[in-house]
Amino acid sequence: MKKNLIKDLSARIGNVSIADAIAQLCELFPGKVVFSTSLGQEDQVITEIIAKNNLPVQIFTLDTGRLFYETYDLLSRTESRYKVKIKPYYPNTSSVENLVADIGINGFYESPENRKSCCYVRKVEPLKRALAGNSIWITGLRSEQSANRSSMSKLEWDEGNQIMKFNPLLDWSMEEMLQYINENKIPYNPLHDKGFVSIGCAPCTRAIEPGEDPRAGRWWWESSKKECGLHIK
Ligand code: ADX
Ligand code: SF4
Repeated sequence: MKKNLIKDLSARIGNVSIADAIAQLCELFPGKVVFSTSLGQEDQVITEIIAKNNLPVQIFTLDTGRLFYETYDLLSRTESRYKVKIKPYYPNTSSVENLVADIGINGFYESPENRKSCCYVRKVEPLKRALAGNSIWITGLRSEQSANRSSMSKLEWDEGNQIMKFNPLLDWSMEEMLQYINENKIPYNPLHDKGFVSIGCAPCTRAIEPGEDPRAGRWWWESSKKECGLHIK
């Protein structure tokens, strides 16, 4: 059943602009289309498209409490510039208190288990709350970002979160994205100009050298798949 729905929806939105695709999804699933922004470059492109076209999409962000100052500043600038509200989701208070009491304030450096627990409490569980009751989850994923992401589809069923995921920029190259940002003068995180490519929490993100894997600056001390659990297939 889900396979047929995805096939049908993919055929409808396959050849239209991103704005038209989102507009159609909003008509089909009124009040149940949400977009998660981490304020990364991809997400800024999508926010611009949503705002410029006045699309009735709820934009939300997962504020882990450990983001860069520059990210908070960009969040505030984005809301002013596009006259949109970005709904924040926070970690559950007692979960984060127990986590820090248990592993320490920076305990995520000590083991992959600790790191995954921190990502679960600060991102994955709040994401579940943000998605609950909705039908379409829009993300800024691009296939170039990692091997895991290269096997994703623009429209796909997320079994873990029981929601249809729409990844409109999946086929975009880094160059296309940067060109779009420059042409439309879209506000972006100044850390991108300092060698940061993929930006997450401050203690878990660092700048990379030219030519390095785009996700090499995330959880650089681990040799894992560099995913925090938001986008597991
Ligand atoms: S992550 O899984 O490694 O953290 P990444 O930073 O590449 O993800 O971002 C991919 C997409 O996941 C973004 O385009 C956005 O839709 C979503 N995302 C990631 N982090 C957040 C966040 N803190 N708040 C909201 N959405 C996020
Ligand atoms: Fe915790 Fe780091 Fe994951 Fe952020 S990225 S939730 S600080 S382990």
